[in-house]
Amino acid sequence: QTAKVYEVTVTAPVNIAVIKYWGKRNKKLILPTNPSLSCTLSQDHLHTCTTVRASPTFDRDRLWLNCVEERIEASERLLNCITATRQLRAELESKDPSLAPLSKWGLHICSQNNFPTAAGLASSASGYAALVSALAKLFELPLSEEDQSKIARTGSGSACRSMFGGFVAWQAGELDDGGDSFSYQVAPATHWPDLHALICVVSDAKKGVSSTSGMQTTVQTSELFPTRCRDVVPQRMEAMKRAILDRDFETFATITMKDSNQFHACCLDTYPPIFYLNDASRAIIQLIHAFNNQKVDPATGKPVIRAAYTFDAGPNAVIYAPKGAMRELVQLVTYFFPKPIDRPSQAYYSDQFGLFSE
Ligand code: PMV
Repeated sequence: QTAKVYEVTVTAPVNIAVIKYWGKRNKKLILPTNPSLSCTLSQDHLHTCTTVRASPTFDRDRLWLNCVEERIEASERLLNCITATRQLRAELESKDPSLAPLSKWGLHICSQNNFPTAAGLASSASGYAALVSALAKLFELPLSEEDQSKIARTGSGSACRSMFGGFVAWQAGELDDGGDSFSYQVAPATHWPDLHALICVVSDAKKGVSSTSGMQTTVQTSELFPTRCRDVVPQRMEAMKRAILDRDFETFATITMKDSNQFHACCLDTYPPIFYLNDASRAIIQLIHAFNNQKVDPATGKPVIRAAYTFDAGPNAVIYAPKGAMRELVQLVTYFFPKPIDRPSQAYYSDQFGLFSE
């Protein structure tokens, strides 16, 4: 007789922050030093696809990431998510004995990214979001997306924002137990269909300094960092939410670029310094400023901002721009950064946060 296997498969999207999360006030619970805000990209192109299976024949939990088995015991963050959801399942089972005892069985987890892992393209965000929503579904947990975002947060901070589509804020919260540190949707993607994103893969190599160790050193050593958390980010959060609700691209773009720059300035102010940007990244920054200086508003005499760059913990650029500017931007990027012949694709163009290979 074959044993019963329970299985679910989910995909979760990547999100790219426009106000960066960097720094933990509690490392175990992953509570951030500052709130952050991101855009969730469409699942069509960059995503993690995760299958979880439970069976009484599985004697232990096992996980494969991009077809390579990883040691679950070595990752406190994976254990956080598995233990929290399993415990909730055990509570359900104790209340309803007719439920299959999934909480007592081993799990097999298979997770696949369709883009470079750990290259500063938010693979941990989609990875942990997929893991938590797959486990919640497998265990039939009655959890809201907000509840799921709290569990995903304990895997990877930025993952809590991938639990929602569109424009998503993660409120830092004040409680020591993390009960008020979760994400929520500011506006759905349909609110601003004209906003597009271009992902420029400058390097698909694994990043040198992980975000976990990088942000810890920043918190401990950067003198610029406390000012950012106290005096800069709170105002930016409010201004950014307003800009999104008003579909005010100029404000959205200016804050996005300044926040990316300040995050990387904090990395540089970390001792010893952390360098995530490379020469190609800096050239993209200059290119976008040159692009924005091309057109001047005759009424104000000021440049018309038509594009914004942002960089996470790696050299790869994400360019946000209105749809009408994208064709020119793709041409510029591919003109100045032609595809290396040994790489299949270098830039991806987005259709309302949905990406396709250029
Ligand atoms: O969630 P983590 O630990 O991978 O941290 C991600 C931090 C940044 O990507 C650099 C910024 C952000 O808010 O996503």
